[in-house]
Amino acid sequence: MRNRVIIGGQWGDEGKGKIVDALSRDVDWVLRYQGGANAGHTIHIGQEKHVLHLIPSGILHQGVRCLLGGGMVVDPWALRDEIIGLEERGFQVRDRLFVAANATLLMPYHMRMDELREAKLSRHNIGTTGRGIGPAYLDKVQRTGLRMGDLLLSADRLERKVIEKILSANEVLSNTYQAEPMPARLLAEELVVLAQTLAPLVVDAHVALAGVRAGSESALFEGAQGTLLDIDHGTFPYVTSSNTTVGGALTGTGLPPRALGEIHGVFKAYCTRVGNGPFPSELLGEPGDRLREAGGEFGATTGRARRCGWFDAVASRFAVDINGMTGVMITKLDVLDTAATVPVAVAYDLDGEQLDVYPTVAEMLPRCRPVYREFPGWGQPLTGCRALTDLPPAARRYLEFLEQILGTPVVGVSVGRDREQMIWTPGGVTV
Ligand code: IMP
Repeated sequence: MRNRVIIGGQWGDEGKGKIVDALSRDVDWVLRYQGGANAGHTIHIGQEKHVLHLIPSGILHQGVRCLLGGGMVVDPWALRDEIIGLEERGFQVRDRLFVAANATLLMPYHMRMDELREAKLSRHNIGTTGRGIGPAYLDKVQRTGLRMGDLLLSADRLERKVIEKILSANEVLSNTYQAEPMPARLLAEELVVLAQTLAPLVVDAHVALAGVRAGSESALFEGAQGTLLDIDHGTFPYVTSSNTTVGGALTGTGLPPRALGEIHGVFKAYCTRVGNGPFPSELLGEPGDRLREAGGEFGATTGRARRCGWFDAVASRFAVDINGMTGVMITKLDVLDTAATVPVAVAYDLDGEQLDVYPTVAEMLPRCRPVYREFPGWGQPLTGCRALTDLPPAARRYLEFLEQILGTPVVGVSVGRDREQMIWTPGGVTV
């Protein structure tokens, strides 16, 4: 089994959870490497819907080991609840779920700061998930954050350390935001109790992943969010605070580049975005509402309505390039079943000039207007298709065009939310 990195090619919500679930049956490890509980990976098994925020989607397969890598920001309260939720549904979790000691602890004050900062930015806000992600990463880069490894300290030392952190967070809360302080002793005591549950999961990732490094164990890297939300390469400042692109898989696990294997990008057959920021191919009004309804485009983490639009090949080519994608998967193709035509943004118009390359200068993208090429719709349901040959010619032509314009083979197509509703095309879709 070759290792594989699964990366979102757009603004997140591409359906990575389903893909990781489908591919993790036969791997030794599934590794999350960035982000935190801002992610919402939804997997449908039969009538049951599972939404995972922190724990890798591979946990739904018995025997697969899962790691929350050092590049993540981990809310220990949310992690405990997610473990309990899985156990209540009959999944045995504890001896195969691990958290890297160098992962950053995301504390309740991070969430409070996230909320206050967004409120202060008012209509210029980012539209975050409110999970405290930015403030937690800020604590990491300014070298003040707590880490998962701190949960291994004695109860006394942990309590003292946590109280100290909360007191300094309280200064920020009152000085910057004129907000109420957080109850330092109460939270520290709660964390000490949580540590008893979570400390057994804490590992030195370098040791735990020795088999992956040596090539004797296989790994699937589960990206969260998407390329265009990357802190360095995304639509800054409307981004998340981690590297959602391929570099994050290295720094967020401590594994070397040779461990990555295939780099597979996941793209929706159209495009969505939650939160603010530029979105050139966005459909406003009725057409956008129709796509949102057809695709059930409401956030798994916050329930927010997602902004919807057509596939943006300019931005997607950028995602292929920046990650070195060796294959792409197209999800939710069935959502377009009733569309009379399916447009794709193949270039941008910027002040009357045609742009074929995605602009990374932040102020240019909001001024870009999409130049569309239209494809005929197929007007029939795809949800029962299980092979490329089951697809109507118009749907195949659409996929062939995506393969051609992205310059990368389409290696998988999802035609419904269930595990089985997949067409695997390892050799690409162009015959
Ligand atoms: P944060 O990661 O909560 O700080 O949010 C920053 C931006 O990333 C906002 O636009 C969020 O809507 C977006 N975002 C964060 N996580 C996800 C996700 O899992 N899917 C889609 N968008 C996300």
